[in-house]
Amino acid sequence: MVTVLMAVGSNLSALWILIANGWMQNPLGAEFSYVTMRMEMTDFWAIVFNPVAQAKFVHTVSAGYVTASVFVLGISSYYLLKGRDLDFARRSFRIAAGFGFASALSVIVLGDESGYTIGESQQTKMAAIEAMWETKPAPASFTLVALPNEAAQRNDYELEIPYVLGLIGTRSLTKTMPGLKEIKEKNRTRIENGIQAVIALEHLRKNRHDETARAEFEARKADLGFGLLLKKYTVDVSQATPEMIQQAVDDTIPRVAPLFWSFRIMVALGFAFLALFCFALFYSIKGSFIEKKWLLRWALWFIPMPWIAAELGWVVAEYGRQPWTIYGVLPTHISVSNISVGNIYGSLAGFIGFYTVLLIVEMYLMTKYARLGPASLGTGKYHGEQASGGALPAGAPANKI
Ligand code: HEM
Repeated sequence: MVTVLMAVGSNLSALWILIANGWMQNPLGAEFSYVTMRMEMTDFWAIVFNPVAQAKFVHTVSAGYVTASVFVLGISSYYLLKGRDLDFARRSFRIAAGFGFASALSVIVLGDESGYTIGESQQTKMAAIEAMWETKPAPASFTLVALPNEAAQRNDYELEIPYVLGLIGTRSLTKTMPGLKEIKEKNRTRIENGIQAVIALEHLRKNRHDETARAEFEARKADLGFGLLLKKYTVDVSQATPEMIQQAVDDTIPRVAPLFWSFRIMVALGFAFLALFCFALFYSIKGSFIEKKWLLRWALWFIPMPWIAAELGWVVAEYGRQPWTIYGVLPTHISVSNISVGNIYGSLAGFIGFYTVLLIVEMYLMTKYARLGPASLGTGKYHGEQASGGALPAGAPANKI
C-alpha cells in the first residue's frame, strides 16, 4: 500500500509542479495588475488545463516510467549475465520489457505533442531548437544535423528531411513557421511598443488615477515584458538608444547550438529506448532473451541513459525559454530577488552539498541492494544468502543460488 501511495503521490506532485512550470512557459489564466504590480490569477481552470502544462505532465511522467523500466531491465540483465537469481530476473525482465515498450512509445508520442504545443505557444523556442534562422515555406523541412553559426545567423552545414518539421510543429501542410530572423524583427516592434508600456506603467505608479497613462498602458500592456528587457541596459527605458534596442532584440532569442543538440540527443535516446524494448519484448515472447548476451549488456549499460535524456529535456524546456522567467512577461534578469549575493551563494552551496550527499548515499544503497538482489528479502531462497548468514534450503535448485 505504501508503494502504491508513493507512486500516486509522486504523480500528483509532478502534476502540480508541471502546471506551475507550464504556466511560466505559457502564462494563461492570469493578468498583470498595475495596482499590485504582480500577475494575478483570472481563471484557475485555464491554468490547470493549459495545453503546455498537460503535455509536459504526460511527457515527464512517461519519461519517469521509461527510467524505471530501463532500471529494472538493466538490473535483471545483470543477474542474467551473472547467471544468478534466474527465475526472479526472468520475470522482472519480462515485466520491464512490456511496461518499458508501452512507456517508450508514450514518451515519443507525447514528446511529439509537447513539440506541437511549443510550436503553437513558443515559436522562438521552436525555431531555436530547429536552428531555423530563415522562415521556411510550408511545410518546413526538419534539420537532422547542423552546425549552427550564431555569429553569422546561419547553419554552416545542414542535413534536412523535407516536410517533417511542418508536420510536427503545425500538424498541417500549409501553415508556415517563422524563422529566428523574422521573430527578431517582430520583437523589435514589440520592444518599441513595450517602451511606451513601461513609461505608462511608471506614470501609473506615481498616480494610479492618471487616465491617459491607463489608456496607454491598457493598449500596450501585452508588450510590457519586451520593454522591460531594456532594463538590462538602462534604468530609464525612455532614454534607450538604438544600440540598446538592438542588444535587447538580440537577447530575445536563446543560443541555438545547446538547444539544437540537447533536443536531438534526447530524441535519439528516445528511439534507442524504443529499440531496446522492442528487442526485449520480442525475445521475451520468444522466450530466448537469456541467450542474447548483447541485449542484456545493452540493457545494463543503458541504465544511466534515461536520466541523461531527462536532464537534456529540461535544458530544452528551460534554456529554450530564455530570456524569460515568465514567457513574454517577466525577463529573467529582472526576476532576481533582492537577497544578497552572499546569501544566494550560501544557499546554493547548501543545496549542492545536501544533494551531493543524497546522491552518494543513493548510489551506495542502489548498488548495494542491486548486488545483494532479492536475497535482501531474507526468504532463504536466493543467491548469496548462505554467505550473509542465511541458511540455504535443502535441495534448493542451483539456478536460485
Ligand atoms: C522522440 C522522443 C522525444 C521527443 C519528440 C521529445 C520532445 C520534447 C520537447 C519538445 C520538450 C520541450 C517541452 C517544452 O519546452 O515545453 C521535451 C522536454 C522534456 N523531455 Fe522530451 N522528448 C523525447 C524523448 C524524451 C525522453 C526519452 C525523455 C526521458 C526519458 C524525455 C524527457 C523530457 C523531460 C524530462 C523534459 C522536460 C519537461 C518538459 O518540458 O516536458 N524526453 N521533450
